[in-house]
Amino acid sequence: MDKLVIEGGKTLTGKVMVAGAKNAALPLMAACLITDETLKISNVPHLSDITTMANLLVHMGVDLSIESLKEDENFQSGRVLCLTAKNISEHRAPYDIVRRMRASVIVLGPLLARFGEAEISLPGGCAIGARPIDYHLMAFEKMGAKIDLEEGYVKAKVEGGRLKGADITFPTVSVGATENVLIAATLAKGKTILRNAACEPEVGDLANMLNSMGAKITGIGTHTLEIEGVEKLHGTEYRVIADRIEAGTYLAAAGATGGDIEVVGISPDIMSSTLEVFEKMGMKIERKENSIRAISTTPLLAIKVSTQPHPGFPTDMQAQISTLMCIAEGTSIMEENIFENRFMHVPELQRLGANIVVDGNFLSITGIKNFKAAEVMATDLRASVCLILAALRAEGTTGINRVYHLDRGYERIEEKLSALGATIYRTKD
Ligand code: EPU
Repeated sequence: MDKLVIEGGKTLTGKVMVAGAKNAALPLMAACLITDETLKISNVPHLSDITTMANLLVHMGVDLSIESLKEDENFQSGRVLCLTAKNISEHRAPYDIVRRMRASVIVLGPLLARFGEAEISLPGGCAIGARPIDYHLMAFEKMGAKIDLEEGYVKAKVEGGRLKGADITFPTVSVGATENVLIAATLAKGKTILRNAACEPEVGDLANMLNSMGAKITGIGTHTLEIEGVEKLHGTEYRVIADRIEAGTYLAAAGATGGDIEVVGISPDIMSSTLEVFEKMGMKIERKENSIRAISTTPLLAIKVSTQPHPGFPTDMQAQISTLMCIAEGTSIMEENIFENRFMHVPELQRLGANIVVDGNFLSITGIKNFKAAEVMATDLRASVCLILAALRAEGTTGINRVYHLDRGYERIEEKLSALGATIYRTKD
């Protein structure tokens, strides 16, 4: 297994190009199943989760080709995926793929809407929590699907073959359920209203792409989406939005190392809550139309942060900000409200010397002067990257084991960090 070795204590400076958002690209790819015409998606990041989704779609009969773009002077790579779901032979997402990536459940909506039936392996729990899919299923039942659970699989069928519009209120905000039902509702008979819907930028990206395919969705960017069902959607060309979590992670690296980093290719508007947190911690943030620069010249300050659905502070930045809190002056509080088990990075940060007390879904973090290098273990995607941030700051050389999690969500991270001045390399465990 791969391991990252990081020599701490370097100040990171420079520009880094932000990749396309993994969490936007995955539902966009799944949406190819809603039409028999070709979908051309650009700015797709090169990540293992994207490969898993591509494998699932190909397994179902999707015709997939990849055009790789040459890197430009800004480090921009990204790939263009051409997806055509003309000859779908398989309406089942097998356990072997779903267990590797929960986001696979997003194929349920488009399959059900277009073919009137679908089978998806139940994903089971994961490192950050139970993560059930009951909201997805509740919504599809309201839209006329009959759902059975057999041998670990969700078997869904629509009487008469076509879903019908419904008025659906989600009990709490769910990104995945909103996206799954949104895709399905585009082809349903009549109008669907999704209340308490997620309004994350990635949901807006999906809605915009579906509209460019002929869907009729209004309320984009709000907690109420209205979808007027149409008979058929057509192909389109669409560019994935920038990854606000990747951008936030590199800006956090400026905070961790007392550096000066500009992330290029992203609008500051889609990550306001994260930028406000950096500012409250004493970092200087410069917002431009298509880039954000973070400068950290003074010691970080303790603050209180709570994760919330968008436009609140995102859970996917919780581990990274918790790491900054470890070296901030005073005692900070981090409250995690989205997932029940997203503190797996805490024992690893403690191995690096952090002073953290866990109390339910709260962390009380008292700042130390610096981390001290040690061997640590990555447990999930964001936990892995927060250990990189700590290692960049730490005295000595840190080894981070099990970094395959990182390859799910951070494109060429060693290369990008090296270009900013980090000493980091990959080796075998
Ligand atoms: N929930 C339910 N029932 C459901 C659906 C969700 O109880 O049917 C609960 C979940 O257990 C969780 C909360 O609702 O406690 C929110 O979950 P949500 O459905 O919003 O999460 P998700 O769609 O599974 C996406 C991202 C996550 C991100 C969350 C929250 C993708 C592929 N994943 O997950 O990203 O943390 O939204 O913003 O879009 C990551 O990138 O590291 C990551 C985990």
